[in-house]
Amino acid sequence: MNEITLTPAEIEDKQGRTDKLQGMGCRRKRVEDVRFTQGRGAFVDDMKLPGMLYGDFVRSSYAHARIVSIDTSKALAVPGVVAVLTAADLAPLKLHWMPTLAGDVQMVLADGKVLFQNQEIAFVVANDRYVAADAAELVEVEYAELPPLIDPFRALDADAPVLREDLAGKTSGAHGPRRHHNHVFEWAIGDKEATDLAFANAEVTIKELLSYHRVHPSPLETCQSVASFDKIKGELTLWGTFQAPHVVRTVAAILSGIPEHKIHVIAPDIGGGFGNKVGVYPGYVCSIVASIVTGKPVKWVEDRIENLSTTSFARDYHMTTELAATRDGRVTGLRVHVLADHGAFDACADPSKWPAGFFNIVTGSYDIPTAHCVVDGVYTNKAPGGVAYRCSFRVTEAAYCIERAMDVLAQKLGMDPAALRIRNFIRREQFPYQSALGWEYDSGDYHVAMQQAMEKIGYAGLRAEQRAKQAAFRRGETRELMGIGVSFFTEIVGAGPSKNCDILGIAMFESCEIRIHPTGSAITRMGTKSQGQGHETTYAQIIATEIGIPADMIMVEEGNTDTAPYGLGTYGSRSVPVAGAAIATAARKIKAKAQMIAAYLMEVHHDDVEFDIDRFRVKGLPEKFKTMKEIAWAAYNAPPPGLEPGLEAVSYYDPPNMTFPFGAYFCVMDIDVDTGVAKTRRFYALDDCGTRINPLIIEGQVHGGLTEAFAIAMGQEIAYDEIGNVKGASFMDFFLPTAVETPRWETDFTVTPSPHHPIGAKGVGESPNVGGVPAFSNAVNDAFAFLGSTHIQMPHDAWRLWTAARKLGI
Ligand code: CDP
Repeated sequence: MNEITLTPAEIEDKQGRTDKLQGMGCRRKRVEDVRFTQGRGAFVDDMKLPGMLYGDFVRSSYAHARIVSIDTSKALAVPGVVAVLTAADLAPLKLHWMPTLAGDVQMVLADGKVLFQNQEIAFVVANDRYVAADAAELVEVEYAELPPLIDPFRALDADAPVLREDLAGKTSGAHGPRRHHNHVFEWAIGDKEATDLAFANAEVTIKELLSYHRVHPSPLETCQSVASFDKIKGELTLWGTFQAPHVVRTVAAILSGIPEHKIHVIAPDIGGGFGNKVGVYPGYVCSIVASIVTGKPVKWVEDRIENLSTTSFARDYHMTTELAATRDGRVTGLRVHVLADHGAFDACADPSKWPAGFFNIVTGSYDIPTAHCVVDGVYTNKAPGGVAYRCSFRVTEAAYCIERAMDVLAQKLGMDPAALRIRNFIRREQFPYQSALGWEYDSGDYHVAMQQAMEKIGYAGLRAEQRAKQAAFRRGETRELMGIGVSFFTEIVGAGPSKNCDILGIAMFESCEIRIHPTGSAITRMGTKSQGQGHETTYAQIIATEIGIPADMIMVEEGNTDTAPYGLGTYGSRSVPVAGAAIATAARKIKAKAQMIAAYLMEVHHDDVEFDIDRFRVKGLPEKFKTMKEIAWAAYNAPPPGLEPGLEAVSYYDPPNMTFPFGAYFCVMDIDVDTGVAKTRRFYALDDCGTRINPLIIEGQVHGGLTEAFAIAMGQEIAYDEIGNVKGASFMDFFLPTAVETPRWETDFTVTPSPHHPIGAKGVGESPNVGGVPAFSNAVNDAFAFLGSTHIQMPHDAWRLWTAARKLGI
């Protein structure tokens, strides 16, 4: 029947029923906030078990030292102390080292030497958190200092100190040959010969070292765990701040030898993850061992300094970037060499076959015919990690690399940075687009997005204002520089297709179980784990639209490995691209069965019924229908003969490809050259994440991601002094912006659905960080370009900008 024939009353009826569902596209308020705003969340530290003990670490004062002796006697004498574990205690269990997600190994407790400041040396277990902390102070560690290696550019020198004695003589690692004792891997991709030729023939080239400094995800809730081993049943229950609970269960089974079905991993409410809570930390292992040894539950909760200085850092990529181009601004080649500082152990949380994550998205939004990229990973005396801090596996580094390079090229060509980008965009008709470094971009309409963004921000007017300000600066009438930062990024999210993505050999699918109850409400269980992204709200919206049950009648449960189907967890904006698709496919299985039941109830053939928002109706007879509520009841009480009762489905979804969200960001900044203070006057962010499930949550995700981008670009840093003392390990030194510093965000969108995703959705959570950092940095550099500067390294805090102005003779 043609919809045009609908009467106004019928249209109103349809709208009313659609509104009631609160399905996809609805600005549904976050259901989880009801408990969070009333202090009713249940976090790991809320766990209180009878007889529970508390663990605390003794940590290294030095970045690189041999451990001569550890004397635990004074600590053990403290009343309330139950045990002090060292590597010697863990060694017989083979738990003094553990595998990392990147194919390396990492010390759980210092084994013979320490390799970074604050490294875990001993684990003190006591009946009180403060007794454990006091006793940890009494553990006496004698060190023999070794020369520290802090500068990654010195790591491969012939005379660089040997850090990893355990790797002596190993000429290859998890990712191929190692050519030096501090070399982790070399990863090369692209066509070297063709790229070299493009550079040889280029009319214009640029070359710049673009460093993306070391930062930390710094979630408000630090990493923590509670382990409870039941000796009688031989079962371990582990509560923890886990972004990937099933992966933790599998790792715990491999490490401990406890059969996987006897390990129960529970991730309760989590207060932010941003990649920090993907990997396995010594604290988890020590709490498990301590529980097995003492027979009591053991809680480990790290403090802020421990979180910032020892758990996974992010970035630390030093990218020597070259572009080849024609004089009129056509980019003809890209060459990048990355020096990647991995710290003491390679504990990157990337899919196994991707030692540099998806850095090969570095060709960005541009149709660059040829590219070649080499990444060298090195060990230094710093904390391990390399996690995807609000980013899909090194994608933010790649976006910063290409987006800064495009600005440097525009400056050399004397071209407007927006015009240079438009000149090189992949065109709509080129999708699906094969990039020079191996990706197939699914969909995009970059020209439309850029045009919309430039109009909304009033780009031409801003450039005119900038020219007038520069003239006034020259005349000495102002001491302020105006910068306009342009960033047009393409993300790659949704790891990932089993053909190229796995963790520890497990393909990176996602799963969903939906059970419709007889009265028409439902529960869905997922292998992902929200850390604040609002999954309970948005997942229910997908089901509501797919099968016509109101979102308020659908409970979403995550984080319990006993009840949820196996999933690979939440990071890198993979929830909607992978789990969102698993939800849609599970819902469609239910819908197919519901159609059979509806047809049986209405005594027609199932081809003669059609879905209509919240019901199945007979084609051509809209007044003859069965609602999903009626169908659910019938599924349990009167299923068609031959069809088993019940209405539930499980779906495992292996995505055929990644999704490629994109966006156009503009930042307008005023910088006082006498103080170095930069004020963000405007920040406009246009995002395209395909089908939008919940616009309200998307805006929240963009606000949060932009705030983190602002922090990273403008001040956040984990720095080290020359002997390896970590600076920036507390919120006195590490910039975490509050509402006072945070700029006001203007958000906008276009919608280009993903052609291979069941609901056309792409991820969004990481986009604002990926696109935001280059927009800020380009604004700063655009302002300083007027003084003849080409590139100022991040972070752009007032001291560094003031110093830069001084160096430029201001
Ligand atoms: O994996 P993670 O949850 O961090 O990232 P995501 O898949 O980008 O989703 C973040 C939040 O935004 C979730 O609550 C999604 O449901 C929501 N979202 C949306 O409403 N529409 C999209 N197209 C993408 C994400």
